Amino acid sequence: MAIPTLLLLRKVNSLIRIENLTKIFNEVNPPVTALEDVSIHVERGDIFGIIGMSGAGKSTLLRCLCMLETPTSGRVLLEGADTAKLNGKELIAARRKMGIVFQGYNLLMQKSVHDNIAFPLTLEKATKAEIDARVAELLELVGLSDKSSAFPSQLSGGQKQRVAIARALATRPDILLCDEPTSALDSFTTKAVLKLLKRINETMGVTIVIITHEMGVVKAICNCVAVIDNSHFVESGNTKDVFENPQNETTKLLLGDEVLNIGTDE
Ligand SMILES: Nc1ncnc2c1ncn2[C@@H]1O[C@H](COP(=O)(O)OP(=O)(O)OP(=O)(O)O)[C@@H](O)[C@H]1O
Ligand SMILES: [Mg+2]
Repeated sequence: MAIPTLLLLRKVNSLIRIENLTKIFNEVNPPVTALEDVSIHVERGDIFGIIGMSGAGKSTLLRCLCMLETPTSGRVLLEGADTAKLNGKELIAARRKMGIVFQGYNLLMQKSVHDNIAFPLTLEKATKAEIDARVAELLELVGLSDKSSAFPSQLSGGQKQRVAIARALATRPDILLCDEPTSALDSFTTKAVLKLLKRINETMGVTIVIITHEMGVVKAICNCVAVIDNSHFVESGNTKDVFENPQNETTKLLLGDEVLNIGTDE
């Protein structure tokens, strides 16, 4: 399959470079090819959208990107370093650069909002004073200062998502990986969460990779998009170009499905 032109044009020294990634789950019978020969470049400061239908391979890509899955073949490079070749210390440092917002929040239900956000910091053995200061800062950022002692079961979906975003930012990562951050939210709450992500990108300089099945999400905040269909990237480019001149049938289908108009401008 031809590599889309935009991918060739983007800088060699990208923040994230995925090269010819294939992931086959062999432990199931028959084996499942979740990704086949997938390549992308994400530049520092991008909000990069990865869009595709259910089962296309989006979460698998994200899990390979943050080293929770090992590629069957191909490479994931972070600032030019092949993540498969990192030693233990380097791996921890590389993982520290990434905050992850998992599909379905993954909050610790027995812990308060404060303790959920504090969790990555406690793993780093930060002091109580450092933790409390950072958690307060993050609660303010996501607009949940009044929910510090609440438990996840007492929060709405949008509030849970904000806690998940705050937790992912706790260790000041360079990259925020978000797997379907708005798929369970109504259009009003979706808009608010996307606005928050955009603000994080613009004010904190965090590069964002966002996985979604909604073109409205891509249109609202992504400067670049890659369309994944049945384990392959079928189209990628600047969001504006892809929206104005979609080349692939899946892209057209996803665009036709753009029932939400989720602008983040006031
Ligand atoms: N751990 C696993 N073991 C076996 N197969 C898996 C595993 N994880 C994912 N798969 C398979 O890989 C394919 C891609 O799954 P993935 O979760 O990446 O899709 P997705 O695009 O994120 O879908 P959704 O939009 O529904 O979240 C699917 O066929 C899935 O069944
Ligand atoms: Mg998924």
